[in-house]
Amino acid sequence: MIPRIYIPADSGALALGAEKVARAIEKELKERGVEAKIVRNGSRGAYFLEPMVEVATDKGRVAYGPIKPSDVKSLFDSGFLTGGHHKRWLGAPDKIPFFAKQTRLTFARCGINDPLSLDAYKSLGGLRGLQNAVAMAPADVVKQVTESGLRGRGGAGFPTGIKWKTVLDTAGAQKYIVCNADEGDSATFADRMIMEGDPFVLIEGMAIAGIATGATKGFVYVRSEYPHAVATMNKAVAIARKAGVLGLNVLSSPNAFDMEIRVGAGAYVCGEETSLLNSLEGKRGVVRAKPPLPAIQGLFGKPTVINNVISLASVPIIMDKGAAYYKDFGMGRSRGTIPIQIAGNVKHGGLFETAFGLTLGEIVDDIGGGTASGRPVKAVQVGGPLGAYFPRSLFDTPFDYEEFAKRDGLIGHAGITVFDDTADMLKQARFAMEFCAIESCGKCTPCRIGSTRGVEVLDKVAAGIEAEKNLALVTDLCNTMKFGSLCALGGFTPYPVMSSITHFPEDFKPAPARVAAE
Ligand SMILES: Cc1cc2nc3c(=O)[nH]c(=O)nc-3n(C[C@H](O)[C@H](O)[C@H](O)COP(=O)(O)O)c2cc1C
Ligand code: SF4
Repeated sequence: MIPRIYIPADSGALALGAEKVARAIEKELKERGVEAKIVRNGSRGAYFLEPMVEVATDKGRVAYGPIKPSDVKSLFDSGFLTGGHHKRWLGAPDKIPFFAKQTRLTFARCGINDPLSLDAYKSLGGLRGLQNAVAMAPADVVKQVTESGLRGRGGAGFPTGIKWKTVLDTAGAQKYIVCNADEGDSATFADRMIMEGDPFVLIEGMAIAGIATGATKGFVYVRSEYPHAVATMNKAVAIARKAGVLGLNVLSSPNAFDMEIRVGAGAYVCGEETSLLNSLEGKRGVVRAKPPLPAIQGLFGKPTVINNVISLASVPIIMDKGAAYYKDFGMGRSRGTIPIQIAGNVKHGGLFETAFGLTLGEIVDDIGGGTASGRPVKAVQVGGPLGAYFPRSLFDTPFDYEEFAKRDGLIGHAGITVFDDTADMLKQARFAMEFCAIESCGKCTPCRIGSTRGVEVLDKVAAGIEAEKNLALVTDLCNTMKFGSLCALGGFTPYPVMSSITHFPEDFKPAPARVAAE
């Protein structure tokens, strides 16, 4: 049997040098006259081990990583094609603790095979969910998704089945499925990993959404910073169309569904669903007032499902194994699994899919391994740039929508950024206001004006100018933004600002006192 070597080609692994490693391996194979098949898979998500090269042996896959081009000669010398020992030897991928501790439902296939092999997708259970869906009445598909307890993974955590039911129940000659792949939150890369590592699961999820709601056309709105994801999705859509997964008769059924990929122009606010719709329609990315809900009047005024990549990519497993199977994972009202993206100053950064319920401390200390700098963890921002900063004293918070909300935080798209004790939380609070000022769409006053005033007032605090009075003003301003903004960009910016002030008051002391304290 010709040996198979797996080298990831997703943008995370490429950024860490996977292409150079692939070339070095090709060269070495040639020089040694050895025949082997190189498969470019996606990443499994342990970015601290990327580029992670795997070899298929008689006893299963063996992984090595992180591999540099300079390791390649010694890899061959140590017989890696048959799983030989080497300083970068990691053993069977599923036994590596970072993977062994995960529960992979949505990411079950991600990183294992060539993402564009439909046969490989099917061999690992792909298309079974869609197969079931085409044989069911639309209302029963919606019922399954509702009963699974799946909530939107884009940030708001709205029940997916309820959204689908609104679209199903709304009459319309044309309905749409829009996939939100804008993924603008800091520390997030789950959407990108799926699009680059297992694109058919998203296509399958979108086709199921179409069948469930009567939508025949779908669009994936991808951020422009994701050229690899765009290329992979375009190729995957063409393959799916050719194979009859998409088209006038999805899997030979009477249901029609087709889709296209669209690239955004680069604005954080275009991840907000109504702004995204404007952008998709070719208009300026400004937030629309709700109502009407997009489910009733969405893209081009038609009933539209807008869901995040992970929400849609979680549907195939629900339709394959049933609502009860999915619902069995998780805690409280947070059902199923959540792909947590661990980033920032952290030793073991990567994607960790697990049932809801792990504590923040378990995620940061046990899974993440603490900071990369080796210094104590000071703060963790959960939920992207609009998420709260949690101190160690809140590390017992379980990863659950309601538990985070109780502590004035949010899960968002489940990205977490770790900071060590050198972080200055006043600077972080200022950054949040500045981010909001730059990214504001300008439609409403609390956000458009408030964020700029917020930067100015925090600058006064930093300069020690009437610090107490100005901090009170920031609090007042945050309340106005929280309750008076039209969308969550202005409405949630108070989370990082107020959590910094509440949990790290020492960083907001007037300048001379801060210097004395240091
Ligand atoms: C400023 C802002 C940015 C957002 N960015 C994203 C994004 O990048 N991706 C996403 O899926 N949802 C984003 N959302 C949430 C969407 O508005 C919407 O709730 C989501 O796409 C719905 O899908 P879901 O129910 O599957 O989560 C953003 C919201 C706001 C207010
Ligand atoms: S909160 Fe900001 S981004 Fe949202 S509508 Fe108002 S101005 Fe636009």
